[in-house]
Amino acid sequence: MSQDQQITTASGIPVADNQNSISAGPRGPLLLQDFHLIEKLQHFNRERIPERVVHAKGSGAYGTFTVTHDISHFTKAKLFSAIGKKTDTFARFSTVGGERGSADTERDPRGFALRFYTEEGNWDLVGNNTPMFFIKDPIKFPDFIHTQKRCPRSNLKSPTMMFDFWSKAPESLHQVTMLFSDRGTPDGYRHMDGFGSHTYSLINAAGERVYVKWHFKTRQGIKNLSAADAARIAGEDPDYAQRDLFGAIERGDFPQWEVRIQVATEQQLEEWEARTGWNPFDLTKVWPHRDFPLHPVGIFELNRNPDNYHAEVEQVAFSPANAVPGMGYSPDKMLQGRLFAYHDAQLYRVGTNHQHLPVNAPRCPFHNQQRDGAMAAHNGGAAQNYANVNAAGSAPRGMGHGEPELALRGGAGRFDGRGVEDDYTQAGNLFRLLTEQEKLNLCANLAGPLSQVSDEILQRQLAHFDKADSAYGNGVRAALNMK
Ligand code: HEM
Repeated sequence: MSQDQQITTASGIPVADNQNSISAGPRGPLLLQDFHLIEKLQHFNRERIPERVVHAKGSGAYGTFTVTHDISHFTKAKLFSAIGKKTDTFARFSTVGGERGSADTERDPRGFALRFYTEEGNWDLVGNNTPMFFIKDPIKFPDFIHTQKRCPRSNLKSPTMMFDFWSKAPESLHQVTMLFSDRGTPDGYRHMDGFGSHTYSLINAAGERVYVKWHFKTRQGIKNLSAADAARIAGEDPDYAQRDLFGAIERGDFPQWEVRIQVATEQQLEEWEARTGWNPFDLTKVWPHRDFPLHPVGIFELNRNPDNYHAEVEQVAFSPANAVPGMGYSPDKMLQGRLFAYHDAQLYRVGTNHQHLPVNAPRCPFHNQQRDGAMAAHNGGAAQNYANVNAAGSAPRGMGHGEPELALRGGAGRFDGRGVEDDYTQAGNLFRLLTEQEKLNLCANLAGPLSQVSDEILQRQLAHFDKADSAYGNGVRAALNMK
């Protein structure tokens, strides 16, 4: 709005005076008939929507995905149909545990949520800057996240809550190792890699399925902050990552990531599982690159800042369930939980018709019989509001756009892999990959919160480090002694 534009009410009525309320006499009181004043105060009172229950602090931007390599033998998804093909995108990066105003440089995983506005609907890849996660069953997610939030009594973040949980959930060790390494404090959002993390699937035109893991390699180079710098910046510039991303795009320095995939057939995964003992659908594990090398796919670039943070970045609603024809899910239990969780969260956080908002609406024609509800912006017009099996477009097309059947193992039940599954080897491998300096940083970063927990929790957690690598446990002990 320019300076000389006439202010109006939300209904478009010119406002005579936006500086002086209508009062009974120069000293007041005020008159109920000052509708403009009332509307202004009422709308202000309703400006906030609930923040995301996780990933509340974030930054977003629009961009372009360009195919550089042919993967059409793996997937019939049209966005990959030709080399050079471009698809509009939106990305949102975030921290996880903090509130909307929390510091960008906190030690935390970073969200790496991507939307591709394809001609067959929106594909959302809602990942992190880490290839693995803390838990492998969604039933633990609310408990885990509660340990990352504030203590109900003190309203403070609590190392005791965090390590009480982690020390009793050894499957978390791999991700805990990553979180407390230098990668736990990335230098802004442009200098980190992204990962779809879960195992997803691709389906080609012949109806054949392969499993994939998505990787996004930063072309800006990996850069992390030291723990000391991260703490200093948290005080000096809590919006450091937002400033960095927004500023780079404003000056035309567009960040790019190389999109790559690891690919495996069902048979290859079965052989790998037989050899390693690792469940390929376990989110606490990675697929080592030597077993499943990376294949290049394309370039993901961010090149336009949103005009309005609330409308676009705050109200964007990503969902791992948004997969287009030629893509599918996998039996990963965590992914299965997430397929439900996001849309449900957004029905509450943004509203029944959140997909009607411009940042969420598909950019291709769409037809369904969903009607009405609060804030129905486009409501199907005069089109038929019910389906029947004979109506065009309603005939069954086969499960999941013609996905091949998924073979199941065993019967329904609750399965505790504890003591059977290997929670230590990959965590140890990650530790052994680090340079000596990185190992020292990791142990020092762990010693900070571990120096504040009870001996019982400490000993339980140290035993996990020992099982991953005795040098890991001893390194943390040495760092604790130095404190
Ligand atoms: C956000 C649930 C695991 C990445 C969210 C939100 C919920 C949620 C409810 C808020 C959505 C919204 O209000 O728009 C869960 C559950 C999980 C899980 C139940 C496990 C069972 C994960 C994992 C990753 C991840 C494993 C990464 C691999 C994200 C990201 C966001 C998010 C990036 C922010 C999206 C945005 O920028 O709007 N999660 N999550 N989550 N989650 Fe998860």
